[in-house]
Amino acid sequence: MSAVRQILTSEQIQERVKTIIQLPAMPAIAMDIVEMVDNPKTSAQQLGRLISTDQALTAKVLKIANSPFYGFPKKISTIDFAIIVLGFDALKEIVISIALVSSLQKKNDLYFNSQLFWDHAIGTGVIARRLARDVGYRVTGEVFVAGLLHDMGISILNKYFTPEFHRMIEIVRDSKLTFFEAEESVFPVTHAVIGSWLGERWNLPDHLVEAIRYHHNPGEAKEHSQLVSIIHCADVFAKLISGEEIEFDKGIEFHPDALEILQLNDEELIQEYVKEYSDLVKKDTRDVALLSHLANF
Ligand SMILES: [Fe+2]
Ligand SMILES: [Fe+2]
Repeated sequence: MSAVRQILTSEQIQERVKTIIQLPAMPAIAMDIVEMVDNPKTSAQQLGRLISTDQALTAKVLKIANSPFYGFPKKISTIDFAIIVLGFDALKEIVISIALVSSLQKKNDLYFNSQLFWDHAIGTGVIARRLARDVGYRVTGEVFVAGLLHDMGISILNKYFTPEFHRMIEIVRDSKLTFFEAEESVFPVTHAVIGSWLGERWNLPDHLVEAIRYHHNPGEAKEHSQLVSIIHCADVFAKLISGEEIEFDKGIEFHPDALEILQLNDEELIQEYVKEYSDLVKKDTRDVALLSHLANF
């Protein structure tokens, strides 16, 4: 086991996360688009023109816009049409997902299986989307995106705090501790908090930042407790359904607060959902393959 001598303070970590923002992690065009969408004076044509300046981005946006997540019955073949059909907010989330997924992915090593990481992220997104419908939450693209991004703090830990991350994984493998306990013993803040800091710095919408921040303690969510609870439960469902033992979700279980908020306090109902969602994840392999592909471009 490699010893990490000094435990970083919360301030040191926040300082380092700030420097991550200065890296060209989020492509400039994504930043411009996020800004443009936030400006109420922006027209659909202006936004379309900007996206169209980047061919690769255009292709990816159209691919996602046409995926069953957005459920539009006709083929969307131009950016202008995508904007009209999906709306600014959905488009903004698509662009953010593309930018984040491409900037956070990292090659496999002994401590981080990026395929498993993205399978988990996408599985959580797919399940969150269905669960939202099942509990009567208005379903929009945000639910999928929140599921996709919930663990982005893990990716940050792996990429920018590598020795500490390795230490955590070793503890998880060699002991009976859950991931949170291991995380707590090495790090003064959680991956959820770190993910939310980056989300704030990148100007992600509030509900996404909140979903990332509170996905393990949904009862503490401020304004979006329903969305946060959906992401929390989808995370646990994804873990239950996946046959793989993922270190960074070792020991997670349904939080009573989330079950309460979503009125899911029923063991039989939960078992039913486990069955239904495992079929869903299997059936949606086409979409999962599409997004996995995007995650690895
Ligand atoms: Fe997590
Ligand atoms: Fe997770």
